[in-house]
Amino acid sequence: MNKIIVANLKMNLNYNEALNYGDILRKYNYDNIIVCPSNIHIDLMHKYGVVVGAQDAYYLNKGAYTGEVSFYQLKDLVKYCIIGHSERRTLFNESNEIIKDKIASCFFNKIIPILCIGETKEEYDNKKTFEIVEEQIKDLNISGEIIIAYEPVYSIGTGIIPNDDGIDNVHTYIKKRFKEIYNIDIKVLYGGSVNLDNCKDICNIESVDGLLIGGASIDVNNLIEIYKKVNL
Ligand code: PGA
Repeated sequence: MNKIIVANLKMNLNYNEALNYGDILRKYNYDNIIVCPSNIHIDLMHKYGVVVGAQDAYYLNKGAYTGEVSFYQLKDLVKYCIIGHSERRTLFNESNEIIKDKIASCFFNKIIPILCIGETKEEYDNKKTFEIVEEQIKDLNISGEIIIAYEPVYSIGTGIIPNDDGIDNVHTYIKKRFKEIYNIDIKVLYGGSVNLDNCKDICNIESVDGLLIGGASIDVNNLIEIYKKVNL
C-alpha cells in the first residue's frame, strides 16, 4: 500500500503559481497525493484532476457568517479537509470542542477529516505527550472515515523531528486507542519538518502511513521527488 502524501500549502501560491502547480501534478497522476491549497485554488486543482483537500472550514452549513466557507460549500470539490492544525489551534484559538464540531460537519458533508494532533515542546519536556494526544482524540463522534496526522508542534517548520522510536510510540498509541475507543483501524500520518532527506526514513517506520508536508510541498517538483522516494 502506497504511503499517503498530503501537501499543506498553507497561505502560499498566487493564482498563476497554483495553475502551474496543478498543471505539473496532473501529468504524474499519482495515487495518494492529496493537495490542500487555499480555498481560492481548490476549484482549479479539482479541474486539473488533483485529489484536493481543504485546510479548514466553518462548522455550520450556511448563513450570515461573512468571510467564512463551510464544509457544505466545499463538499463537491474536496475529498478531505485538514482539521485542528496547530496553527488553527494557536493562532485562531480553536479548542478541542470547536474541532469536534468541525469533524461532525465533515462527516455530515461526506468529507474525510485529517485531524491534526500533537504536543508542544513544553508538554513533551513534561512527559505529557500521551495525555495531550488522549485529550485530542477522546469523545469524538466518529461516523465515517477519519485520518490522523501526528504533528508535534515543536516540529512544524523548525527542522526538529522526534527520533524514530518517538514517532513510532505515538503512532502505535493512537492506533491502539482508536481501536479501543471507537473500534476502528485508522491511518496515521506524520507531519513536521518532513523533507526530501528525511522522508524515506520516516516512512520506513511501519506505523507511519504517510506524511503531511508543509514547507517542502510548496515547490511541486520537490513534492513529486518526495512521493517518488517514498513510494516508487
Ligand atoms: P512543515 O509543516 O512541513 O513546514 O513543518 C507541516 C505542517 O504544518 O503541516
